[in-house]
Amino acid sequence: MRITDTSDLWWKTAVVYCLDVETFMDWNDDGIGDFEGLSHRLDYLAELGVTCLWLMPFYPTPDRDDGYDIKDFYGVDPRLGHFGDVVEVIRTARDRGMRVIVDLVVNHTSDKHPWFLASRSSRDSPYRDFYVWRDEPPAEQQATAFPGQEESVWEYDEKTEQYYLHRFYRFQPDLNVVNPKVRDEVAKIMGFWLQLGVAGFRVDAVPFFLDTVGVEPGHGELADPLGFLRYLRGFLGRRSGEAILLGEVNLPRKDQVQYFGGDIADGLTMQFDFIGMQNMYLSLARADVRPLAAALSERPVLPVEAQWANFVRNHDELTLDKLTDEERQEVFAAFGPEPDMQVFGRGIIRRLPSMLRGDPRRIRMVYSLLFSLPGTPVLFYGEEIGMGEDLSAGDRQAVRTPMQWTAERNGGFSSARPSKLPAAVVGDGFSPTHVNVADQRHDPDSLLHFIRRLIQRYRASAEIGWGEFRVLKQPNNAVLAHTVSGDEGLMFAVHNFSPDPTTVTLSIEGESPPMRLVDLLRDNSAVTDDKGVLQLSLEGYGFRWLRIVNPGEKRLF
Ligand code: NOJ
Ligand code: CA
Repeated sequence: MRITDTSDLWWKTAVVYCLDVETFMDWNDDGIGDFEGLSHRLDYLAELGVTCLWLMPFYPTPDRDDGYDIKDFYGVDPRLGHFGDVVEVIRTARDRGMRVIVDLVVNHTSDKHPWFLASRSSRDSPYRDFYVWRDEPPAEQQATAFPGQEESVWEYDEKTEQYYLHRFYRFQPDLNVVNPKVRDEVAKIMGFWLQLGVAGFRVDAVPFFLDTVGVEPGHGELADPLGFLRYLRGFLGRRSGEAILLGEVNLPRKDQVQYFGGDIADGLTMQFDFIGMQNMYLSLARADVRPLAAALSERPVLPVEAQWANFVRNHDELTLDKLTDEERQEVFAAFGPEPDMQVFGRGIIRRLPSMLRGDPRRIRMVYSLLFSLPGTPVLFYGEEIGMGEDLSAGDRQAVRTPMQWTAERNGGFSSARPSKLPAAVVGDGFSPTHVNVADQRHDPDSLLHFIRRLIQRYRASAEIGWGEFRVLKQPNNAVLAHTVSGDEGLMFAVHNFSPDPTTVTLSIEGESPPMRLVDLLRDNSAVTDDKGVLQLSLEGYGFRWLRIVNPGEKRLF
């Protein structure tokens, strides 16, 4: 690998930061976060070490699913700003070394989108086939994404006396992906935002979007969902050499891998590792790293351009849908035992620090893990300062509270009256009095400083993004010892999932012992014995990142 490869395939060593403009920073004090506010926080994000911003939907919307119900793909929600502000953010971010990707939500529109209004106005509307209509719902119905909140994925329309498909809420009718006109529109939407300077898209609900179930048979080639994905990737490449598709695909590995598009990586550039994430929580609950180690070891090997995106939490529920019922119950019992902490029977609506009862050692251990696992880390705003959630907001809203900048009113997010805010600021132990950016910026021992250091080390260790992953054998199941290695180098990481201190014995192969290892996170080093055996002591929830220093080593440590 040449060093320039890390800049061409920039996403493989990126630090992605997801935020919702609406809840990040309010500059005109009307209570709603805005693009201008975000532009004033770009230096903060750059200082943290973020290299890619993922902006959640900021398009015009009735806002019944936090903006994932879009009524104009070519617009900006006027509450958040206008195109001028968006372009200023994209440009300024670029100057600060950050690319911007935006949510591409094309499985469905809002039921207030002009296409749907036209579609439902008459069976003869030229837009009728933009959506999926049936006289009767099929006998075998697909499951709704929101059990308990929706009963069916088909909704009857009185006026035209047919049912339309909606894989999500009934106010989010599914677009008909086999309609060539819809396909053209999807490409046009992508082209539009690329022209404004975005570096790609976080693609919402990919398997639903590409799924042709529910569409009448007889569409021949158009019914090949992956063919359409390949087309979109080709289109993206023609419009921008650097742009990526980061896809949301929560499926078992064997189904998920298809969406990367095979050996030549002509599908999604990156996919979130939902399986790894869910098994990480199972491992945390059990203080046994085997589920996580297995989930990581079973990852299919990807073509060089493709990449896994690792995450601890996102804006949705912490879904545990790919665990067995018993495993899910274990995680519920450990991290979300009360009914008001759960949603859809499958997930937890809390953030990490509250799940870990605020234990700083354990919280840091998890983030150390996130930044040392092979792949690209994705942070959800507020994770860097250890924000908690507001359970009283209910459901997925619990983690979508305003960013906590200072200890002042509204956490410094806005000076508007609290009732004007899109969501209440978190109270109690995780309130802005205890958790805010301003205090942590001045405290070298804060979580914020710790995450910044992790980011620096991660960015200087391209093997994490590029290298091969291996679990090192050692007898303690509470400890994950792994290496990531490639042309770029080799790094060891050791994480203790248990509160008990321990000593790990590792056999380091391949070099001539005794070998010196430098500690990448603190001022420390370790030496193997003359058989290459290393004894490492770890505190409860302790962790280390180490690298072998060979004689004549040119790399900086
Ligand atoms: C997945 C998004 O992450 C979620 O927030 C949204 O509700 C659904 N897709 C529907 O767009
Ligand atoms: Ca505002």
